[in-house]
Amino acid sequence: MAGPRVAIIYQTGEGHTTDIAHRIADRLGEAGCDPVIREVEAAPATLDGFDAVLVGGSVHVGKFGKALGSWTKEHAVALGAMPNGFFSVSMTAAVHDEAHLARAGENADAFFAQTGWHPDMVALLGGALLYTRYGWIKRFAMKRIAAHDFPGLTDTHRDYDLTDWDAVDHFAKDVAAHVIAATVATSPAAG
Ligand SMILES: Cc1cc2nc3c(=O)[nH]c(=O)nc-3n(C[C@H](O)[C@H](O)[C@H](O)COP(=O)(O)O)c2cc1C
Repeated sequence: MAGPRVAIIYQTGEGHTTDIAHRIADRLGEAGCDPVIREVEAAPATLDGFDAVLVGGSVHVGKFGKALGSWTKEHAVALGAMPNGFFSVSMTAAVHDEAHLARAGENADAFFAQTGWHPDMVALLGGALLYTRYGWIKRFAMKRIAAHDFPGLTDTHRDYDLTDWDAVDHFAKDVAAHVIAATVATSPAAG
């Protein structure tokens, strides 16, 4: 029998959140779930037929993408009716001190306030500096920002992956356990 169907709806700028969404899907699949990944622009109109949902997005200039906000707001009630989680991808979360983690949390909280959705599970994940994928203005701006928080990471001829992939795996495993427990609890056989 197929495992619980988990929608993973995400928005990306340069593709790093795509990589994270796929990594989460791999882990969910290994744990017995049936993940379905969609970029928000191609997200399903309804969550009927899904047992759980994850929403993910990256922070650009302090905010998540507009399309992700609109989709999430539109589906806030449906999201809240099933096991659900949110993963945020940002450079702020790659700096492991209290001030930066608090800022990453504030960005996520603003998204929850804006959309009216308050997820069961939240992961604040570090992102990547993808200089080779930026146009020159973005490359210049990101180099200046990086010079402040990541002084060694300013060679714009290469990319820097600052994601803690163990943390991604950990989040995915927690989500799988939560989803599977909730699905078993609500299945007719559970009585
Ligand atoms: C133009 C631009 C603006 C960004 N602004 C922020 C920001 O305000 N705060 C932050 O923590 N990270 C910021 N980042 C870093 C991204 O969140 C990070 O690079 C992430 O990995 C991007 O994922 P994506 O490729 O899926 O969009 C910014 C990146 C770019 C390119």
